[in-house]
Amino acid sequence: MKFALISLALLVSAAPLSAAPDKKAAELAGANIFRAQGCEHCHGTGGVGAKKGPPLLGKDFQKQWTDEKIKNQLIMGGKKMPSFGDALSDDDIATIIVYLRAKHRPQPTVPVPAETPNSN
Ligand code: HEC
Repeated sequence: MKFALISLALLVSAAPLSAAPDKKAAELAGANIFRAQGCEHCHGTGGVGAKKGPPLLGKDFQKQWTDEKIKNQLIMGGKKMPSFGDALSDDDIATIIVYLRAKHRPQPTVPVPAETPNSN
C-alpha cells in the first residue's frame, strides 16, 4: 500500500508540465515544444541558429524580440517561417517564450520528430 502511494506520487510529478508553476518545469516544457514543433529543425538545437533559421539567443535577440513580437511571429509566421497560429495555443506560446528567456536552456527530453510538418 505504501508502495502504491509512492508510485502514485511519482506519476503525479511526471504529469503534463504546462500546469506546473515551477519555472524550471516550464522551461523544459518549452524546450520540448520547441523540438516537437520542429522549431529546432530551422533554428538549431537550443535555438543556436541553423541553415534555415536565425539564432534565437544573445543580447540583441532578447532586447529586440519582445514577448509580443515573438508571439506575433509565431502566430503570423514570417517571410520564410511558417505560421504556427493553428499549431500552438496561447499557453504553448507563453511556454516557448519562457524557454527562450531561460538563462540556461534545458535539453529537451522528447525525441526529435521523424517528420516535422512545418519544416518544409
Ligand atoms: C521552416 C523553418 C522555420 C521553422 C520551422 C521555424 N522558424 Fe522561426 N524563423 C525562420 C526564419 C527563416 C526566420 C527569419 C524571419 C522569417 O523569414 O520569417 C525566423 C524567425 C523567427 C523568430 C524571430 C527572430 C528573428 O531574428 O527573426 C522567432 C522568435 C522564431 N523564428 C521562433 C520560432 C519558433 C519558436 C518556432 C517553432 C514554433 C519556429 N521559429 C519555427 C524559420 C523557421
